[in-house]
Amino acid sequence: MERLEVKRVNHRFGFTEILKNINFSLNKGEVLSIVGPSGGGKTTLLHLCANILDVQEGNITNTFASSAFAFQEARLLPWKNTIDNIALGLIARGENRRQSIQKAQEIALKFGLTEDDFDKFPKDLSGGMKQRVSFARALVLKPSLLFLDEPFSALDIGLKKELQAILIKMIANKEISILFITHDLMEAIRLSDVMLLLKADPGHIVKEFRFDVAQNKRDDRYVYGKSAEILQDEEIINTFELELK
Ligand SMILES: Nc1ncnc2c1ncn2[C@@H]1O[C@H](COP(=O)(O)OP(=O)(O)O)[C@@H](O)[C@H]1O
Ligand SMILES: [Mg+2]
Repeated sequence: MERLEVKRVNHRFGFTEILKNINFSLNKGEVLSIVGPSGGGKTTLLHLCANILDVQEGNITNTFASSAFAFQEARLLPWKNTIDNIALGLIARGENRRQSIQKAQEIALKFGLTEDDFDKFPKDLSGGMKQRVSFARALVLKPSLLFLDEPFSALDIGLKKELQAILIKMIANKEISILFITHDLMEAIRLSDVMLLLKADPGHIVKEFRFDVAQNKRDDRYVYGKSAEILQDEEIINTFELELK
């Protein structure tokens, strides 16, 4: 069984305690989100889970067959064009170059890029286009687990909905598991099966919410309704007060 398990994880930067006693597990096919205010340690936690940072205390076991990461900023290679950026991971894991390019082109079109964009370099792409490329680069790998760090934050509402719709379809088809980090409560409610609330200083999990309506059945009314309901919750109010500095 593919699974990500986080047990009693603590993390410090210098003398500052960033994360304290983090415990959760993510099973295959699930979308788990971690929601909390900026500076609360969300990115740090995701980097620990994705093995980008070394675990100092506690344990993280990841038995997913493969994973990919989409960051808040697109982080494209400036000297590679759109298609080469997307194909990067495929080629890096040894797939045939021609097939990699072909897969990259197919997914680029699916993500709303056009043939005109294929040989553009990142400097000639808009922010939204770059984010499309970044998503395509992660998903072309068909990862079994996808790590998402606030990937929609900088996007306009149209593109946000479009990229979310692609994920929701993949979730419905049981093609992917996702660990999703965000400070946006509504976004988390729209996409996750399980939502953990991370309170800051040091980051610790104070509450767990579960949503049992399938993601592809959640309309705006459901999301707004749930948000309103959850915003009555004492822990949510306390946690997000930190945002209102
Ligand atoms: N490499 C680092 N060295 C020192 N402090 C860091 C480092 N990375 C993050 N921090 C600090 O850790 C805290 C949590 O940061 P982060 O995990 O990025 O939070 P979030 O993603 O929730 O905004 C912040 O106070 C940040 O300044
Ligand atoms: Mg962050």
